[in-house]
Amino acid sequence: MTRAELEETAQALVADGRGILAADESTGTIAKRLASVEVESTFDTRRGYRELLFTAPDLGHYVSGVILYDETIRQNAADGTPFPEVLRRGHVVPGIKVDTGAKPLALCPGETVTEGLDGLRERLAEYRGLGARFAKWRAVIRIGADMPTATCIEANAHALARYAALCQDGGLVPIVEPEVLMDGSHDIDTCELVTTAVLRRVFDDLHTHRVVLEAILLKPSMVIAGRDSDYPAGVEEVAERTLHCLRRTVPAAVPGIVFLSGGQSSEQATAHLNAMNTGFGPHPWTLSFSYGRALQDQALKAWRGAADNAEAAQRILVRRAMLNSAACRGAYTGEAA
Ligand code: 13P
Repeated sequence: MTRAELEETAQALVADGRGILAADESTGTIAKRLASVEVESTFDTRRGYRELLFTAPDLGHYVSGVILYDETIRQNAADGTPFPEVLRRGHVVPGIKVDTGAKPLALCPGETVTEGLDGLRERLAEYRGLGARFAKWRAVIRIGADMPTATCIEANAHALARYAALCQDGGLVPIVEPEVLMDGSHDIDTCELVTTAVLRRVFDDLHTHRVVLEAILLKPSMVIAGRDSDYPAGVEEVAERTLHCLRRTVPAAVPGIVFLSGGQSSEQATAHLNAMNTGFGPHPWTLSFSYGRALQDQALKAWRGAADNAEAAQRILVRRAMLNSAACRGAYTGEAA
């Protein structure tokens, strides 16, 4: 892919009020999700659940791309069509998670660094051959007593930049995902300070590694109070603080910012995105979604592993995607719509 093609792909992923479905749960994480609805995780149940998601009628009206996992990109629909082809036929671009997970960061108790750089060039080439046109790497930053350390921020920003450069060299658009976790009792001020420090370092390192900002997407967490905070913030405050932080840290050259949901409820994630697209002045990037749980949770609960529930689950998924698409235009008017 030429640089122009990478830029076109990045722009297309956030065009027309569409966003991304993150369906790249690792084998361990999808097992937890399936267990929550009493479904055993096997090669076949994982495949069946992902087929339900990818074949939902009209998903492509609201979803531009789907992030797959290594196992999933190699799986087929029941009729034998490889999942990347199923997605392409539905006007959805296949993407792939390429990190190998957040591992304990040496000498920094409680913190992690995301691994997966070894052999990444070769893996990217293989994934491109399997149909992927964009990739994802998630760095995890935890807020706590004496956390995050500068060591953790530096190590993760460096890995994100190396990954992003390798992606662009290999013809894939990198989604750069530094997630500041919602876990903890911190207030929204602390989240804003940490998120600002993380994004500053990430863009410094992207610059150092010559990453073309016009051909990436940023996938940040929102600026939000910790899950156990005594001072939860309202929808407007989350939107205002998040935009305040992003304006100060994210260059206008970046075409799109696609938020993760990070444990917010489906309704909250949609309301926050909508608020950011409604007020608080102009911003240079398109603001959209790359939600995992906030798109899938309601559909997963409706399905519960029963074939008879599959169509209803698909309708619920597509409706959730439609509401988030409305939020991309600031046109979400609540759940009743
Ligand atoms: P959530 O929206 O469930 O946080 O997942 C998004 C994602 O891709 C995390 O890496």
